[in-house]
Amino acid sequence: MTTTYPLPNRTDEPVGPILRQNVRILRGFLPADECAALRDWISSLAHDGSLKANAAGPNRFYTSIYDLRPNQISNVLLGVDARLQARFGLTGKCLRLTDSAPVHLFNATPSFVGMQTNAGAVHPHIDDNGGGLLQFRGTSLISKPGRGGQLVIDGTLHEMAEGDMYCFVSNQTVHGTTPVEGDRPRMSASLGYLVEPMFRMDQWP
Ligand SMILES: [Fe+2]
Repeated sequence: MTTTYPLPNRTDEPVGPILRQNVRILRGFLPADECAALRDWISSLAHDGSLKANAAGPNRFYTSIYDLRPNQISNVLLGVDARLQARFGLTGKCLRLTDSAPVHLFNATPSFVGMQTNAGAVHPHIDDNGGGLLQFRGTSLISKPGRGGQLVIDGTLHEMAEGDMYCFVSNQTVHGTTPVEGDRPRMSASLGYLVEPMFRMDQWP
């Protein structure tokens, strides 16, 4: 039986052999209890010194998941990782950037958790190239600052809610955030995968 998928909602022109893909928004992908558990976890990583300052800008902190000891990694995050793979048919068909080997082999951006405090922002950038593979990434907002800290993808500012997951091809798509304003930090978890060039995130309902 042949399965046909609805044509994706594309507005972009093809770029080289790869069709550019829009952002895919999964509202409430993480329920409130998972966000709360991940907030506690990221806070504990900050307090025990496991988050590093990001040299790309002030008031930015992060850790790659693979830099943590196995017993430091949140089972909630691993569950979200597995759910995201299943959501897009990637289970067993991708290289998880939660693991160090594919990150180093392909010079890819790892799965990470990030935190920006007052005035911290993520500069607009495109992730490293995955050696001809697509770098598919789901970024979830774990802690929403009082003001600022909005995700900007391809020049469009997105007002995320805690628990929303924004998916995009991060080695094709310019992304960053506006500066955080206020005392409540922005916390996010970004889960990345190297996938075949034919992968189309909009083929999945
Ligand atoms: Fe990035």
